[in-house]
Amino acid sequence: MADARSELASPELIDLRTDTVTRPTPGMREAMAAAEVGDDVYGEDPTVTALEAEVAALFGHEAALFAPSGSMANQIALQLHVPPGDELLCDADAHVVTYEVGAAAAYGGISSRTWPAVGAELDPDVVAGMIRPDGYFAVPTRAIAVEQTHNRGGGGVIPLPTLRRMREVADEHGVALHCDGARIWHAHIADGVPLAEYGVLFDTLSVCLSKGLGAPVGSLVVGSAEKIARARFLRKRMGGGMRQVGILAAAGRYALAHHVERLADDHVKAARLAEAVAPHGVLASVVRTNIVPLDLTKHPLDAHALATAARAEGLLISVLGPRTARLVTHLDVTDAQIDRAATILNTALRA
Ligand SMILES: Cc1ncc(COP(=O)(O)O)c(C=O)c1O
Repeated sequence: MADARSELASPELIDLRTDTVTRPTPGMREAMAAAEVGDDVYGEDPTVTALEAEVAALFGHEAALFAPSGSMANQIALQLHVPPGDELLCDADAHVVTYEVGAAAAYGGISSRTWPAVGAELDPDVVAGMIRPDGYFAVPTRAIAVEQTHNRGGGGVIPLPTLRRMREVADEHGVALHCDGARIWHAHIADGVPLAEYGVLFDTLSVCLSKGLGAPVGSLVVGSAEKIARARFLRKRMGGGMRQVGILAAAGRYALAHHVERLADDHVKAARLAEAVAPHGVLASVVRTNIVPLDLTKHPLDAHALATAARAEGLLISVLGPRTARLVTHLDVTDAQIDRAATILNTALRA
């Protein structure tokens, strides 16, 4: 008997809920099957070591650490910068404080304070005004986290000059700057900024292989050799030490070689969907990457009703709030499926 899960996995359904739903391609599976492996907790997996070196070099840093998830990579990085009780600043929609189920507080004892989120916008001067120095009765700010691209910010891209200003602010106040770069690859493709130019602006980055890049598992923390040595310790403490994990690192290496440039296709597909829904007045912001954010505040359908209507026609979308929904393009969605999705959305939104 088919359960709900196997029904969702049905190939007839067009799944635009997120870009984590992709399955490894045949080429990726071959690379995984052929991977040389060893015990990575002993530092003996050559494929993991190669992936870590490759990703560190891409971002112009000394070292990187393979982690089982983007959430763990982020939380390891935050613990590197913020001692228990001290403070992290980020925007109110940041993944680190929205979707990581309180990990900063639960595992790191970290206090988080947020600035109001407006899409992917970032105003370094607003952030500068929030930084609290060491002092009696105050919680000292130790780190700032930004998200590139911004998930709840509709896949928006923070411009390079803004990030450079953010770096200056961090330096002026002696606080660390972390980038949740789960989809930094998309920013690189959308704005043509070399990954290393982003990399040098941050003390640490977390970058994800299992979103747009299509690997089944894996993220990396990127930073200095000293920070990554400590990160290795924190990963083990959090239960993230894995053994013959070269099988997964091989998928990541394959993704880096084959799936970065093709992200441009996902961006074109997202733009086509945006064009289809825009006349209905529900596009929340300009679409720059692979996320199409929908704002249904002025539409008769709420997010749940739209998702239900789309589901009835074989299209899955994400409901993010009562009047907010999201479509995400990815490796496993074809041009024909985008056409079909556009028709389904047009019909539902017209009703
Ligand atoms: C911006 C961002 N950061 C981090 C993560 C966490 O990744 P994971 O699901 O691998 O924990 C996600 C997941 O969607 C994300 O969108």
